[in-house]
Parts: sequence; C-alpha cells; structure tokens
Amino acid sequence: MSKQQRVWVSRPLFPEVLATLAQHVDLCVETKESKRTPEQLHAKLADVDGAIVGLSDRIDAAAIAGHHRLRAVANLGVGYNNLDLAALTAAGIIATNTPDVLTQTTADYAWALLLAAARRVSSAERWLRAGRWRGGMRFDDWLGVDVHGKTLGILGMGRIGQAVARRASGFDMRVIYHNRSRLPEAVERDCRATWVDKTALLQQADHLVLVLPYGAQSHHAIGAAELDMMKRTAVLVNIARGGIVDDAALAVALRDGRLAAAGLDVFEGEPAVNPALRELDNAVLSPHIASASADTRRAMAQLAADNLLAALGFGPQAGHPPS
Ligand code: DGY
Repeated sequence: MSKQQRVWVSRPLFPEVLATLAQHVDLCVETKESKRTPEQLHAKLADVDGAIVGLSDRIDAAAIAGHHRLRAVANLGVGYNNLDLAALTAAGIIATNTPDVLTQTTADYAWALLLAAARRVSSAERWLRAGRWRGGMRFDDWLGVDVHGKTLGILGMGRIGQAVARRASGFDMRVIYHNRSRLPEAVERDCRATWVDKTALLQQADHLVLVLPYGAQSHHAIGAAELDMMKRTAVLVNIARGGIVDDAALAVALRDGRLAAAGLDVFEGEPAVNPALRELDNAVLSPHIASASADTRRAMAQLAADNLLAALGFGPQAGHPPS
C-alpha cells in the first residue's frame, strides 16, 4: 500500500524505531550524520510532511521557506536551541523535543565529568598510557580536589539539575542552586538544595555544574568576570550548551590556575573545540555524549518518532511540544 506522507530523518537511527515509522510513512533516512549547510537543509526539507532532526540541524525561517507541505519537526534532544520556534509557529509547523527520557542518564554523566575533572582521571590515564609511570606511587603527585563533603553549585535547576542535586547526598555535599525562579519548598527539600543568587553561587561552589537552557539570556553566562568570582580550587562542569560558557575565557582561567579544572561535554561552535582548551591537561573534554547510553538514546529516538507520528495524525496524542 503506498503511504501518503513522507518523512526525512537527518541521521541513522535504531532499526526498530525506523520500523515503527515505516509502518505509517515513506522514509528517507540519511546514512550518516553531518553538519549540513542551510541550502542543503532547505533542499532536504522540500516535499516532506515531517522531519526528525538533531542539534546540528538548524531549522529556521530559511530552512523551511516555501515548504508548505512540512507540518512537523521532531528534535532528538531535550534542548531545542537549533529550532527557531517563532519561525516554525508562524508557518504552522509543530515542533517537539524529548524531555524526561534522558534526565537520569544526563545527570549521571554530569557526575562522571565532575569526578573525572576533580580527580584528574583523564590526564592520569593519558600519562599512564604514554608509558610514563616508572616509579611507585608518588605521594605528592596527581593531587586532585575532593568532591565529598564539599559544596555543589548548580546553575539551572530544571529536571536534569534536580537529578544532579539528588545524587549529591551520597557524597555528603551541601547543594546550592541558582535558577530564574525558585523551586517549590517541597522540591528544594527533596533535592536538599538551597536557592542563592548567582554571585553567591559562583563564590561558594566548590564544584559548579551548568544545566541551563541556551538562549540570548544565557549566552556567556559564564565569562571572564564570572570565572574570576569562583574559587581557585573550583571545578566547572558544562553539560548544557557550549555558548553558555565563554570558552576562550575559560581556557585562560584554567591555564592561569584561576580555576582547578573543568569537565566539558559541549562547546561553542561544536564540533569545533577551542584549540586552547585542547591543550590543557586540567580540562576533561567529551563530544556531547551526556545522554549517550544505549537505553537512553533508543528511548530518545523512539520518543521523537512517536512525537512525529502523533503530530502527523497517527498517534493518540498530539506530539510532545518543547518543555
Ligand atoms: C539534549 O538532549 O539537549 C542533548 O544535549 C542532546 O542534544
């Protein structure tokens, strides 16, 4: 039976997820993930009813210009700063994202980066692999900073921030957070977290985790001035979006010992990474993998597919609008 609706998938996805889609729509699936030019994206979105896209696909007014057939765009991710919601709404196109399913896995990864940066795991491993471990255990070498018993600061206290906070009780930490709006008291109690203003957060945190959405207001929320306010022994972790940190200023602070270490999963202009950061032994760097466990990536793909099908009229609900 010929299917009426056509869907473009911008990268390879799990076969079982594609099979769900293929029951209802004609599929065009890219065999590799790549950063496309605006012209290429515009061409891919021609003559399709829906699309499944990811962070590297910038879907704005130019990408959808003249595409009257396009009715829904499902984003593979909870963050959706790659989508121009105003342009999509004006064109009557439904946009969806994948909240909740990645919350715990992403919070786990924030801790992986925090611990690796604080305890110098990556640089010690590089040193060992290079065959440089000759003597026994040098007592005054490889000294990191403690995590247990310290103050954890969280900037951005949505679902993932709260999940990061909950894990801190296993480390006997004091948790402080800053968010535009304060959480209800019951949630604060559950997370054992106390609201403070941004200056207090920067000054008091021994470990600061960034979990806020990216937008004009959060662009370079952590720049030279903010880094200067932090403790010299502090560790900064960014699992949110690259543009939230001024990477050039961070590289200078790490190089000059004005900050102990950083764990970074996201970068300004990724996949490019500021070369100054790549030089630093006290920066743990990873390629935007905070949600990358097999179970979670499968759940994200399935949710994006379900959202798209619902938005195109095949599901029981009307898709999952960004939240
Ligand atoms: C998200 O879900 O926002 C992750 O960062 C992947 O884009």
